[in-house]
Amino acid sequence: MFNACIIGTGSALPEKALLNSEIGEFVDTSDEWIVRRTGIKERRISLKEGEGTADLAALASQKAMEMADVSPEELDLIVVGTVTADRLVPSAGCMVQQILGAQNAAAFDISAGCSGFLYALTTVKNATCSGACKTALAIGVDRISTILNWKDRGTCILLGDGAGAVVVKASEKETGILSSHLKSDGRLWELLYSKEGNSYVPECLEGLKPKSSYLVMDGNRLFKKAVNSLTDIANQALKQNNLSGEDISILVPHQANMRIIQATAQSLDIPFEKFYINVDRYGNTSSASIPLALDEANRKGLIKKGDYVMLITFGAGLTWGSTVLRWCF
Ligand code: UT7
Repeated sequence: MFNACIIGTGSALPEKALLNSEIGEFVDTSDEWIVRRTGIKERRISLKEGEGTADLAALASQKAMEMADVSPEELDLIVVGTVTADRLVPSAGCMVQQILGAQNAAAFDISAGCSGFLYALTTVKNATCSGACKTALAIGVDRISTILNWKDRGTCILLGDGAGAVVVKASEKETGILSSHLKSDGRLWELLYSKEGNSYVPECLEGLKPKSSYLVMDGNRLFKKAVNSLTDIANQALKQNNLSGEDISILVPHQANMRIIQATAQSLDIPFEKFYINVDRYGNTSSASIPLALDEANRKGLIKKGDYVMLITFGAGLTWGSTVLRWCF
C-alpha cells in the first residue's frame, strides 16, 4: 500500500470578471443585496473561444504539473469532476488528455455537483494507494455559466466559471491524504438540479422543443442542509484522524456563500481565520471551488510541509464530503 501525496496545484480562470452591478442591469438585484447575503463581489465568466471546460482544465493541470515537475507522459490517470463538460460525448477527461498529450493515462469524468473535485480526488487517492496508478491528475472544473438561468436572480448571482487541478503521486512517506469521507442523499436531488437537459427529455420525440437545461435551486433549504452536512462531515474527519480543530492549519471549504462558510465555522470548533476564502472574487465555481482556493492558498505560501489541511464540500445530488491531508511539500 502507498500513500497519495499532492505534489502540485494549479488553477485557471476566464478573463471576464462580471460585477454585481452588471448583473443588476438584467435582473432585479443590487450589489448591496448580493454582498450582504452572499459575500460575492464578482465572478468570472468564460465567453472567449479557447476558454472551454477542457481548455480551462488543461491550463490548470499544466500549472500543477509544472509545480510538480511531472511530464504529460508520466500521468497514468486523469479524473475530472464536472457537470459542464464541453460535450455530452466524449468526457472532459479525454479532451484534457488530448490537450496535455498525456497518452499513457486513462481519463474519465465524475458528476457530483459542486462536490465533483473531492469525488475525483478520492477516486485518484484510492487508485494511487492500491498501486493501480503512480501519477495522476484530479481536476475540478465547471463553466456553470453555460447552464444558468440568467433571468433567475436566486441562482445567477451565485455562480462563476473556473478550474483547479492537483497532481497526486504514490509515495511511501507517512504524509499525504489521510482520510476521505463522501456522502450523498439522492432523496434531496430536487433542491438543486438542471431542468430537463441531456437525455431526460427524448428530443427525437419532442421535436423542436427548445432545451432548458438551466439550474433550479431551493436556496433556503439548501443553505441549512449545507451547514449541517459540512459540520457533520468535518467532525467525522477530525474524529477518524484523532485531530482537534487546533491541529488543522488551514481549512478550504466549498465557496458556496460567505454566510454558509461563517455558519459552518461557528458550528465547528475551528477558528474562522483558518478558513481560506475567495468567494468574494469568484463566487461559487462549483467543482472548481476547492482546488482553485487550495491553489491560491498554496501559491501564497499559506500551506507548509507537514501542515494538516482539511477540505470540505457540498453540492447537487445532494453530495458532500471531506478530505484531510498532511501536506507533502
Ligand atoms: O453550491 C452548493 C449549492 N448552493 C448553495 O448551497 C446555495 C445556498 N443558498 C444560498 O446561498 C441562499 O439561500 C441564497 C443566496 C440563494 C439566497 O439568500 P437568502 O438569504 O436565503 O434569501 P431568500 O431566498 O430567503 O430570499 C429573501 C428575499 C426574497 O424576497 P421576499 O420574498 O422576502 O420579498 C427573494 O425574492 O430576497 C429576494 N431575493 C433577492 N433580492 C435581490 C432573492 N435573490 C435576490 C437577489 N437580489 N439576487
